[in-house]
Amino acid sequence: MKKLFVKTYGCQMNVYDSARMAEALAPSDYALANSASDADMILLNTCHIREKAAEKLFSDLGRLAPLKARKRRSGGTMIVAVAGCVAQAEGAEILRRAKNVDVVVGPQSYHRLPALVAAAEGGARPVETEFPAESKFDRLPTRSRAGISAFLSIQEGCDRFCSFCVVPYTRGAEFSRPARAVIDEACRLAAQGARELTLLGQNVNAYHGEAPDGGTWGLGRLIRALAEIPEVLRLRYTTSHPADMDDELVAAHRDEPKLMPFLHLPVQSGSDRVLQAMNRRHRADDYRRTIERLRTARSDLALSSDFIVGFPGESDDDFAATLALVREVGFAQAFSFKYSARPGTPAATRDDQVPEPVKAARLAALQTLLTEQQDRFNAGFAGRTIAVLFEKRGRHLGQLAGRSPWLQAVHVAAPDALLGSVAAVRVAAREPNSLTGALSEASA
Ligand code: SAH
Ligand code: SF4
Ligand code: F3S
Repeated sequence: MKKLFVKTYGCQMNVYDSARMAEALAPSDYALANSASDADMILLNTCHIREKAAEKLFSDLGRLAPLKARKRRSGGTMIVAVAGCVAQAEGAEILRRAKNVDVVVGPQSYHRLPALVAAAEGGARPVETEFPAESKFDRLPTRSRAGISAFLSIQEGCDRFCSFCVVPYTRGAEFSRPARAVIDEACRLAAQGARELTLLGQNVNAYHGEAPDGGTWGLGRLIRALAEIPEVLRLRYTTSHPADMDDELVAAHRDEPKLMPFLHLPVQSGSDRVLQAMNRRHRADDYRRTIERLRTARSDLALSSDFIVGFPGESDDDFAATLALVREVGFAQAFSFKYSARPGTPAATRDDQVPEPVKAARLAALQTLLTEQQDRFNAGFAGRTIAVLFEKRGRHLGQLAGRSPWLQAVHVAAPDALLGSVAAVRVAAREPNSLTGALSEASA
């Protein structure tokens, strides 16, 4: 067997894709290895979302050069393949910039990877960044392993074209997998031990897949079908767009206990002027109303979001509107970023870019507020008894690590036999990034 080292950057969809690419390469005699140093192939699954993310690829390629040279001196070869969104965005340019890259493959062409690697082993430097008419999903081999918590891609690409975002260009047009294919894959993952499924898509609540009876299913309907799989104990989905939150999906939050009460719903900004310039197609009040509908459906729902500060033209008042929205909604967790101008996106060429120090100050202010909210949210759990799905062994002997319904990491002294099951835990304390506690009487 040859050794394959995979490094994944960016979003959960890349994590899912990396697993499937590794499986696609198994018939070519590649097995996953933990270290890059003596690997026969290095696969870098990249992200283009912000400049920093994209530049990471080139610094990592620089570090790989001596490893590759050493391997060659000892008579071996090391194939370096670049996949993901930088591969799609920059294509053959990567081969020019980095002489040690052998294969460039875009996100819609992963089923072609074995052929491309074979060509590279023969000395070629293939580049494949087509958007084929058919979906890659059902042309990749099925997975033979699954964790207790598993990702399942159900939708890919995006048609929304937010003016800051590269995803519509790197992942292509929105595509939903047929419901039958999703259910089949969910059943296989469950049979392999998965107990929690996180449904993935760049804009997952725009899901509109072919129904088993020929019609079309939205995400709410699909969730109801997946909840019928007895081994699946928990369902989540990410990432969603506020304007695609339809009534059926809101109803799923009300009616389906397996759907966890935690939702990542990016709002980006609290200013209508900025939201419009971002081409988000909803106002701040629409977001507030959507949150209200969701909380009416499921009162214990906790929210997460993404924010961009320093979008071109963002004024102090616009930023104040973002802080106001955050204070009103209250988030359990959130990600926030300084706007990064991305080549080929409409916002990048605007002449009212916000100066770097202003972006930095706004980010710091927003993160202070978001961290306060997160701390308050977690502090509220002391003394409460919550349901934890145990996913893996903890750092200390005799300890298991799991997740609460609200995605908090929880560490508890518990026997291995509880891996893969949900048990009641009484929360004692809060560490910086997790909760600790003890199994409550009933489950101990
Ligand atoms: N599909 C998701 C988000 C995909 S990208 C959605 O619609 O919300 C993840 C996050 O990265 C975005 O929510 C946004 O907050 C951030 N992001 C995307 N492009 C960015 C850019 N050019 N600069 C800074 N942050 C960006
Ligand atoms: Fe990007 Fe999300 Fe907007 Fe699509 S909806 S363009 S993925 S931010
Ligand atoms: Fe990054 Fe592509 Fe995901 S740009 S965030 S890896 S869709």
